[in-house]
Amino acid sequence: MHTTPRTTLRTLGLAAVLAFGAALLPSALAQGADGGELGETTYNTVCMACHQMDGQGLPGVYPSIIGNPVRIYGVEGSREYLAKLMLYGLQGEVNIDGATYNQLMTGQEMVLDDAQIAAVLNYVMHAFGNADALPEDYEPFTAEEIAPYRGLGLTAADVYALRGELGIDAVTAPANE
Ligand code: HEC
Repeated sequence: MHTTPRTTLRTLGLAAVLAFGAALLPSALAQGADGGELGETTYNTVCMACHQMDGQGLPGVYPSIIGNPVRIYGVEGSREYLAKLMLYGLQGEVNIDGATYNQLMTGQEMVLDDAQIAAVLNYVMHAFGNADALPEDYEPFTAEEIAPYRGLGLTAADVYALRGELGIDAVTAPANE
């Protein structure tokens, strides 16, 4: 069968995306204070598998990220915590919305670049109705802010220890009314 160079290129492009998955998410996609297109695409490609399309998670398995990200944002030291959560994941017993979870969130250090991590954090702060509770002086995450936390060799358990030091359970534990 005859294939035009254009079709071949397109096929190659698709194959590359399939082969490398999220690593090839285009960082050039527009992003703004709310994460924009880059944040949404990153969420849909990486986070949605666990936290689901509407952020409500799977009861008892994956926690909801409706409300919680904004509550965590209000805790001192949380910017570093959220950056490390994205890079290295989280493992340990946590209390969220009146339920207990003790699962592994996988870190995305090898999957997402700094711009994608900043954008997806900004996205979850605004999506799922979270923007309504976000303080007016919200300072969007930037790629430059994420970069220094890379390559520290942390584990998901180390991030859990930081979560404990910052007292994050106190803000996530209460059941949603
Ligand atoms: C493999 C499934 C999985 C993926 C993929 C995943 N998460 Fe999670 N996430 C979890 C689990 C499980 C927890 C709770 C961890 C625990 O039980 O210790 C969690 C916790 C969280 C929390 C709450 C942290 C806290 O301290 O209460 C946020 C916010 C979050 N995830 C955001 C994200 C974002 C954004 C992405 C995409 C970059 C993502 N997650 C990808 C499974 C996942």
